[in-house]
Amino acid sequence: MIKEEAVSRIKKLKQERKAVILAHNYQIGEVQDVADFTGDSLGLSQEAAKVEAETIVFCGVHFMAETAAILSPRKIVLLPDPHAGCPMAAMITGQELRDWKKRYPGRKVVCYVNTTAEVKAESDVCCTSSNAVRVVNSIPDEEILFVPDKNLAVYVGRQTGKKIIAWDGYCYVHNRIYARDVLEKKRLYPDAEVWVHPECRPEVIDLADQVLSTGTMVKAARETTRRQVIVGTEAGIIYRLKKENPKTEFYPVKEMAFCSNMKKINLKKVWKALEEMKFRVEVSPEISRKARGAIEKMIAI
Ligand code: 13P
Ligand code: SF4
Repeated sequence: MIKEEAVSRIKKLKQERKAVILAHNYQIGEVQDVADFTGDSLGLSQEAAKVEAETIVFCGVHFMAETAAILSPRKIVLLPDPHAGCPMAAMITGQELRDWKKRYPGRKVVCYVNTTAEVKAESDVCCTSSNAVRVVNSIPDEEILFVPDKNLAVYVGRQTGKKIIAWDGYCYVHNRIYARDVLEKKRLYPDAEVWVHPECRPEVIDLADQVLSTGTMVKAARETTRRQVIVGTEAGIIYRLKKENPKTEFYPVKEMAFCSNMKKINLKKVWKALEEMKFRVEVSPEISRKARGAIEKMIAI
């Protein structure tokens, strides 16, 4: 299929279906270009909650589409590839969280947005990479349970001074970025600033000038006056950063830092999703009600 043909079909179908296309910052460039809104997990969930459209085509991974379905129960939420899941979100189930909580009675649970609806339903409050510190600080307790990302948990613990008891989960893409990768890129570009995502290992975070979510990286790219920036996150973000600021050179800290799940969606699948109204993501009313509580608490913070 020729790209132009796919884009024009998508645009036509979008009108017919009264649909909006949301895309995460890690999506391939041509999917980002066809989207009505591109952003980080927080931005996308806020956008999903306020859009007027009847159908949301979510170009991201399953937990993101699920979050949109929870926040917009009357809208049809479509994930163009049903296998686009997040391996980190799969590292804890609702039952595992229920069992874990029993070992720490009375402790509040903060769940990263990269979790299933069932895990969110078992949590007190949700957070994303851009508000995790603020969310944890809003809880008066000194000891908090955090699922599933152990790296984000260390970062939050250091920033808040609280004792964070973490689940042993991680993002395989960020966890494979090592301090030696950052040091090698710093050797190549000694004048560059280093931005990393808080899903990175603590020793990688120690080498960074700024720790940013993908959304705040996009904002920082618009505002920076630096000529060179080394970026420690999934390499798909480079497309968006360059688009925001063609004057700055953005170098991925690791060229191979690719999330294969985020790359499952392409223009043909977006077109098919709209044409055949597939694949619908739904959450049961009971789970949805409980999970919404944790997400709405986060949005209020
Ligand atoms: P943010 O876009 O919220 O920074 O999250 C990154 C991520 O890994 C999403 O899967
Ligand atoms: Fe999950 Fe990591 Fe991929 Fe994000 S980049 S979807 S956290 S595996």
